Amino acid sequence: MGDSSQMLANIFEQPSVAERCLAMDLPMPPLPDVDRVIFSACGTSRHAGMVGRSWWQTLLQIPAHLEDAADGYPVQVPPKSLIYLLSQSGQTRDVIDVAQRFPTAPKWGITNGSKTRLHELASYTLQTHAGEEKAVAATKTFLGQLLLLLRVALAWHDRANRNVPQTIVLQSKIAQIPQQIQTTLNQTEVACQQVAQKLVAADRLILLGSGINTAIALEGALKLKETVYLHAEGLSSGDFMHGPIAIIESGFPVITIAIPGSATYDKTITEAKRVKSYGAYLIGITTESAVYDADLFDAVLPITDIDELLSPLLTVIPLQLVAYYMAKNRGLAIDAPRNLTKFIG
Ligand code: G6P
Repeated sequence: MGDSSQMLANIFEQPSVAERCLAMDLPMPPLPDVDRVIFSACGTSRHAGMVGRSWWQTLLQIPAHLEDAADGYPVQVPPKSLIYLLSQSGQTRDVIDVAQRFPTAPKWGITNGSKTRLHELASYTLQTHAGEEKAVAATKTFLGQLLLLLRVALAWHDRANRNVPQTIVLQSKIAQIPQQIQTTLNQTEVACQQVAQKLVAADRLILLGSGINTAIALEGALKLKETVYLHAEGLSSGDFMHGPIAIIESGFPVITIAIPGSATYDKTITEAKRVKSYGAYLIGITTESAVYDADLFDAVLPITDIDELLSPLLTVIPLQLVAYYMAKNRGLAIDAPRNLTKFIG
């Protein structure tokens, strides 16, 4: 790597973080008697909660909601709700406020710290064991949050005898995740360096995702804002068609995440063609064996083939690397961006 950046080191630690998160004991408490789950978190952790929401809805078929703790949500928690609080540090004031506002509701937490306020306030707290993350922009702790959310969802599925067919299929695939992360790092890094170079003068960027990967479009935009100070906006590809697409003009850079096998793939590709037809410089994040028109993407950031429901574990990687290399090209303080402070749990 030839680079002393903490952020780059953290990105490349992700295969071993994944190994640890899959190997660690997962002492499941008795399942609370709930008919909905409310995720509440801030920043990157909120994006992990957005993926968690998709997993609770699809893998467990339990109604799940996402709330912005920084904006004072939830304001109300109906009976039979579980509040799921995610926080890398376990100390973020807005998240702790949510825990304190609803003292009697069952609360579960995921944090990278070992003795945090979240541990004190939640009834069940798991630690991501990602190791200390010194770079301000979260990368490996985000991956750890996703993996623990996934493991809890799969354990909940078994404990509650839910028998959701696609969840049973996924159970057999999670052991491959660390290797898939390593393969993706290997196969996508050079393409990320090239895209970062291409975007060297960019002052704006749109990131599009669909379904479970809309969360990753938002997370990619946050990484770019935090490390590159770039005006980047993440949103769902579908929603982008409903007004925002008016901003596209010749050369406007857009990154779209399109994962074959998803219910939204064909629609996302159709939307990508439309964006391209208005002159966008279109970068695709897709799997290595995806099939699409040769002239659709101006550049491709490949990930290894993976089930769509697991794909956020991989689609975030090229976005982390593009943010890192763009910040490096611009000579920015990658590990300690301006205006930001970070609690380490
Ligand atoms: C800060 C950081 C974000 C981070 C958020 C939540 O504002 O700038 O990068 O995601 O807090 O932090 P937490 O420790 O609760 O995950």
